[in-house]
Amino acid sequence: MFKLEDRYVQSFINQADYSAMVSKTVAADKILRDGNGEGNDYLGWVNLPENYDKEEFAEIKKAAEYIKNNADVLIVIGIGGSYLGARAVIEAIKSPNYNLLKKSTPQIYFIGNSISPSSLNEIVALCEGKDIAVNVISKSGTTTEPAIAFRVFRELVNSRYSKEEAAKRIFCTTDKNKGTLKELADNEGYKTFVVPDDVGGRYSVLTAVGLLPIAVAGIDIDALMKGAADAMNDCASIRDVENSDVLRYVVLRNLFYNYGRKCECFVSYEPSMAMFNEWLKQLFGESEGKDGKGLFPVSTVFSTDLHSLGQFIQESGKGLMFETVVKFNNCDNDYVIGSQEGNLDGLNFLSGEKMSVVNEKARLGTLLAHTEGGVENLVIELDKIDEYNIGQLIYSFEYACAVSGYVLGVNPFNQPGVESYKKNMFALLGKPGYESEKERLENQLGL
Ligand code: PA5
Repeated sequence: MFKLEDRYVQSFINQADYSAMVSKTVAADKILRDGNGEGNDYLGWVNLPENYDKEEFAEIKKAAEYIKNNADVLIVIGIGGSYLGARAVIEAIKSPNYNLLKKSTPQIYFIGNSISPSSLNEIVALCEGKDIAVNVISKSGTTTEPAIAFRVFRELVNSRYSKEEAAKRIFCTTDKNKGTLKELADNEGYKTFVVPDDVGGRYSVLTAVGLLPIAVAGIDIDALMKGAADAMNDCASIRDVENSDVLRYVVLRNLFYNYGRKCECFVSYEPSMAMFNEWLKQLFGESEGKDGKGLFPVSTVFSTDLHSLGQFIQESGKGLMFETVVKFNNCDNDYVIGSQEGNLDGLNFLSGEKMSVVNEKARLGTLLAHTEGGVENLVIELDKIDEYNIGQLIYSFEYACAVSGYVLGVNPFNQPGVESYKKNMFALLGKPGYESEKERLENQLGL
C-alpha cells in the first residue's frame, strides 16, 4: 500500500495553513471525481485499471508472446509519455541492466527519445545479426523524434524480411482512428494498438503504450494492473485527507509550494528506480508546470547522489526544495556482508549484516541530516519492488498529480508549452508551412 510517513515534516507546518490546504485538496479531489475540471476530456486513466479494453489486453499478451518467440531484440520507439512509463517499469522490476542479464526474453532498446545520430547508429549496430521486432508508439503519430527513428527501423526491418514477415514484426501503438502513423500502419498491414483518446501521454503507461514493451520483458501485467486497481479503489473510496495517504501527500506538497519551495526532489535508494523518477518528473513537470506555477521536479538516487548533490541539498537546499522519498520495506534480493580475517578494511562491524539494513540506516541518517538542514522529507512506503507495488505507485502518483494540479489551479492534462521548441525547430529546418518564421529566427541566431 502507498503509505505516507509525514511525522518528520510536522514541525514545519502551521496548523491553520494545513487545515486550509486540506479544504482545498478535498475540493480539488471532488473536481476530479465529478469530472468538471479543466482537461476533463482526459480522464480515461481514472478508471482505467478496471475499465481497460480486455480484448486489447489479450491481444497485447499475444503480441508479446509473438515477439518473445520470434525476436532477439525489441526496438521501442517513442518519446515522453510514449516511452518513459515502459522503461521505468522494466528497469524497476527487471533492472537497469536488463539487457545484460541472462534471460529468455528479448533485449529491449529504447530509441526515438532524442535526435542523437550516435544513439541511433549505436542501436542499429546492436541489431546486427539479430532478429528484430519494432513497437513504435506515438499518440499523435507526428512527433519528430520517433518519426525519424521509425523511418530508420522500418527500412531496416523491410531490408531484412519479406514484406509479409516485416508486417508481422512491426507493432504500432497510436490513435484509434486518425494520424499519420495510423494511416501508415493500415496501409502496410501492421498490427495496431490504441492510445485511448481520453488518456494523455504521461498517463498512458497502463495502456498498450506501456503494457506491450513491459509484457515483452516478461513482467506480469495482470499483477501490475491489479496493484493499480487496488490503488484506484482506495482513491475512489477514501476521500478524507486523514485516511487517504495520497490526498495527504497532495496537501503537504502544496503546502511546501506555498511556503516557497521551488523544487520537489524525488528520492530513491534503489538505482533501479532512476527511470521511475524520470517518469515522475514528466508526470508532475508537464502536469503542473504552467501559467508561471508549479514545483520543479528533480530526482536523485541515494546514496549515489549523496556523493555529488548531497552537499548542495544539505547546506543550500533549505527553503528551495523538499524531498519525496520512495522507500521499499522489503528486498527479495538481499546480500549478507561477510566477515574477513584481519579486518583490514575495518568493515567487520558489518559482518553478517544485510545490505538492505545498511541502506536503510543510510536513509535514516540522511533523513535526519537533511531535515536538520531544513529540507523536509516526505516518505512514501511500499512493500517491495514488484508488479503489484509498482502498479500501486503508478496509479497513486497519477491521482496525486491530477488532484494537485487542480489545487494549484492549472489544467493538469495539457502541455501547451511543449509546442514552442517544435515550432522553432520546424521553421529552422524549413518544414513546409513554417517558412515565414525561418528568416526571423535565423536573424535572431545570427545565422
Ligand atoms: O505527455 C505527453 O503528452 C507528451 O510527453 C507526449 O507523450 C510526447 O510528446 C509524445 O507524443 P506522441 O505520443 O504524440 O508522439
